[in-house]
Amino acid sequence: MNIPFLDLITPHRELEEELVDIFRRCLRTASFVGGEQVQGFEQEFAQFCETKYCVAVNSGTDALRFALIAAGIGPGDEVITVPNTFIATTEAISQTGASIAFVDIDEKTYNMDPNRLEDYLKKRFKVRGSRLEANTKHATRNSGLSFKTNASHLAPNGSFSRKSQVASGKGSELTYSINSSNPMNSRNPRNKPQPRAVLPVHLYGQPADMDSILEIANKYGLIVIEDACQAHGALYYSSKDERWKKAGSMGLAAAFSFYPGKNLGACGEGGAVTTNDETIAQKIRMLRDHGQAKKYYHDFEGYNGRLDAIQCGFLRIKLKHLSDWNEKRRHNASLYTQLLNTAAPQHSSTATPQHCSTVITPYVPSWAKPVFHLYIIRTQKRDELQKYLSENGINTALHYPIPLHLQNAYKNSSLVNGNYPITEKVSQEILSLPMFPGLTSEQIEFVSSKIKEFYSSFSLEP
Ligand SMILES: Cc1ncc(COP(=O)(O)O)c(C=O)c1O
Repeated sequence: MNIPFLDLITPHRELEEELVDIFRRCLRTASFVGGEQVQGFEQEFAQFCETKYCVAVNSGTDALRFALIAAGIGPGDEVITVPNTFIATTEAISQTGASIAFVDIDEKTYNMDPNRLEDYLKKRFKVRGSRLEANTKHATRNSGLSFKTNASHLAPNGSFSRKSQVASGKGSELTYSINSSNPMNSRNPRNKPQPRAVLPVHLYGQPADMDSILEIANKYGLIVIEDACQAHGALYYSSKDERWKKAGSMGLAAAFSFYPGKNLGACGEGGAVTTNDETIAQKIRMLRDHGQAKKYYHDFEGYNGRLDAIQCGFLRIKLKHLSDWNEKRRHNASLYTQLLNTAAPQHSSTATPQHCSTVITPYVPSWAKPVFHLYIIRTQKRDELQKYLSENGINTALHYPIPLHLQNAYKNSSLVNGNYPITEKVSQEILSLPMFPGLTSEQIEFVSSKIKEFYSSFSLEP
């Protein structure tokens, strides 16, 4: 049996008539940029994410970059994220001119560990009376914790600044100044970047622990931008607000990717920012369109970052199926987990790696309803297992094989192996199994049985 990692052909065949009809309508009305399809998609996706606004842009990377810029992030600022993510997360930070700081992940959820975030911020701020002040001693230079790349030339020629910083997305007001120095710099004469934002990633479709992250960010006066590029429709139970919330609705703004393989994928590139903040939404509408709100009246230099009408039309068709597709992914995940746990009796989802003689299946905290963009298992025999599955026609992948701080792109930072031990260890052990809505029970059973077979034969070896 040959099992693809991802099946992008079947869903498009099933929706072919509707997709072709959208293409034909756009073609016959020459609707290519802006217009009804774009506005319709933005309204529908905002509704899906339970936010007031959605601004469609041409990739998840642009969505992240625009969200950061619109939130006032730029040179002199530091944005805190995780090393266990796709490089677009950190590219977006660097491209605003800000510095990247990493905190390690939680070993069970693979997402930002709020305790480590707090530990990091405690080092970066000192308490003076009732006030928190930046602790410059722990800023970039030689700290091995925060670094700046040379990508800031990509940032626009100026920056937004916020009159009030809040992590909840309420009450912000942005001003934009050309070539202005960031307000944080004037408080920081030695020009060391200061923490200004937290960028948690809802990796693999599993929401990060947002109540804790938002509370910590609020305490230190930082904004929160969510990287929801893998988490369309994922739910987080906020104990604070006593309700389930959608990924992308909890920070000041959030970024989504519609890369074809995502849970909601375009037939090409695409992305969006969701937010409840009207000012941020308006800035992003301008950033994606050369800094103009009115044609040929440019308030600042922006980008060509619009999402085209045909893609928005395609996404509207697919959005109608997203909840059903997510449910199917959840069903597939629970079947895998059930079968793999029987296949590997020594295993427990809450086991620490020391107990990991076979396979660790995804841990789902009580406050999370993930959408399983990826189904990740962890095993100490990862490479051998991947080879064995491949020999049996099963395609798997690694997300991600090299932690970001060890990538060549960041070799000039002072970060080394050992800085983020959980991410480093996990990167050696994770394996992404085939996962898509149309994956059948037979296919899941086959994959699980091959994993079981691998371990039983392996354990016979001396
Ligand atoms: C976590 C994460 N962030 C950002 C992105 C960037 O999205 P895009 O490829 O649409 O630019 C991706 C895409 O894979 C992603 O997985």
